[in-house]
Amino acid sequence: MDEEEPKCWPHDVPPCQWAEMLELLTPETRRRFLKQIAGAGVVFAIGPNVTAWAQTAPGSVKPTAASAPVQTADVRMKINGRDVSVSVDTRTSLLDLLREQLRLTGSKKGCDHGQCGACTVLVNGRRINSCLSLAVVHDGDEITTIEGLANGDELHPVQAAFVEHDGFQCGYCTPGQICSAVACIHEGHTKSDDEIREWMSGNLCRCGAYPNIVDAIREAAGRGA
Ligand code: FES
Ligand code: FES
Repeated sequence: MDEEEPKCWPHDVPPCQWAEMLELLTPETRRRFLKQIAGAGVVFAIGPNVTAWAQTAPGSVKPTAASAPVQTADVRMKINGRDVSVSVDTRTSLLDLLREQLRLTGSKKGCDHGQCGACTVLVNGRRINSCLSLAVVHDGDEITTIEGLANGDELHPVQAAFVEHDGFQCGYCTPGQICSAVACIHEGHTKSDDEIREWMSGNLCRCGAYPNIVDAIREAAGRGA
């Protein structure tokens, strides 16, 4: 096998970006690579950045920003009540910092494009999509994830209400729903079911547990959660 051919596809490149990255390859190398992908031996795991590989392939295009040296920054945050100091690649999203570096995997990656709300966390009490926010901009911030809501073994009232009202099925969206619901209640956007639906509309549930989610939030709000 030609040593310059890619051995695998970078695991962190979503399929929607493949076309863009394939554009970097010459027709000949693209054909070779696609043939390789189709083969049974291809491993979709951590591997060399395909753009970096493309720059060394015969006849490939010029280097891009993707091959620039990694820049890191030291960031300090309070996460779920604990002081955390960490060095991050400046391109790292808050979600990836939480999940990949700090192993706080409660926050979920759904779309990674700010469209589903599965990654919702609280930053200084405000809900944000952590997939859309760079970790470095949160130096000094206070972050609360789903792991930080309960008080020991005692569930947060919103968590308890979700359990009581079956506010989930597969549960994938649930950490984001609950973090968002906590903020929604604190914002005072729970005066009616319509208002709850409107202010929770950034959190999608593919299982369609919406009626039970609204019930849970209404009850938690009524209890002064
Ligand atoms: Fe962040 Fe979907 S993963 S909004
Ligand atoms: Fe499955 Fe919401 S419970 S996506």
